[in-house]
Amino acid sequence: MKSKILNMLKANENKFLSSAEISEALNISRQAISKHMTQLKKQGHNIESVSRKGHRYVSAVEEIYNKAEIVSELDTDTLGKKMIFLETVDSTNNYAKNIALEHDDMTVVLADEQTAGKGRLGRQWASEKGSGIWMSIILKPDIEPAEAPKITQIAAAAMTEAIESVVGESIGIKWPNDIIYKKKKVCGVLTEMSAELGGINYVVVGIGVNVNQTQFPEELVDKAISLKMGLEREVSRKAIVLSFLKSFEVLYQDFITTNSLKRTIEICKSRSILLNETVRIITKAGTRTVKVIDINENGQLVIVNENGEREQVFYGEVSVRGLYEYID
Ligand code: BTN
Repeated sequence: MKSKILNMLKANENKFLSSAEISEALNISRQAISKHMTQLKKQGHNIESVSRKGHRYVSAVEEIYNKAEIVSELDTDTLGKKMIFLETVDSTNNYAKNIALEHDDMTVVLADEQTAGKGRLGRQWASEKGSGIWMSIILKPDIEPAEAPKITQIAAAAMTEAIESVVGESIGIKWPNDIIYKKKKVCGVLTEMSAELGGINYVVVGIGVNVNQTQFPEELVDKAISLKMGLEREVSRKAIVLSFLKSFEVLYQDFITTNSLKRTIEICKSRSILLNETVRIITKAGTRTVKVIDINENGQLVIVNENGEREQVFYGEVSVRGLYEYID
């Protein structure tokens, strides 16, 4: 019903439609219209509601995306209250690592453009100006260094929730840290850490989301997608950042206080595109073809190996049939 209301408003762009008109056309109560309008606005749709006039879809104007805009609507206890917003930077992860020791836990670094964005395994991360979310979070958790990779999954789970709530569509997770939309990659997470024998100095969780790109470099065309390319409409970066920070704070605090990943794993499992699939796991030791049967409470992939034995996998590049990376 929400999408029917949206379509009706879009078809009458910039023109007010009264609740009575919408109610009659879609056979829906005024109360329900008001509920859907609230949700659509929360998802970042530019809808104006004026009493005695009704509702109208305002033509897309370029979203203002800066620190003041984001902080003014932030709904977290701590995360993002300390925020550094950069017009351009080489990589928010590099920047965050350089300042991490002098800055507080839960500081967020956001940039409008990265000139040398980094992906996993030394890859580059295309970070065109004004088109995506390029963000790093400085964390100082009192946990064992070996536990830090769990934070990657918390970020993936929180971003999945955020994207779903803003765009209103289901998103997939490819363990451990890729977010998949229409069989292509829409978001990745790169976690870096500084630790000593005594424990962690800091963790920097970097998250990149392809939001409003309309094209990608040649070598990424088959693998990457933006939300705009999938939805055929502009998506609010601010709405996703706000929703993500809220979600991440809840899941991260839950992990730190209970020492359990339960809530994160529930999200990851219900969106996993690998569960019950035969996949290829690529590590330095070679490539293996195995069946995925679970993601356990520690966030490890549980597989049945080549000899029919159950095993837990800690890391590795996974490729699954039907997805961009599968090589036959
Ligand atoms: C991946 O390879 O999937 C991880 C991509 C991570 C990209 C983000 S963008 C913000 C942060 N800064 C970086 O240089 N990389 C991460």
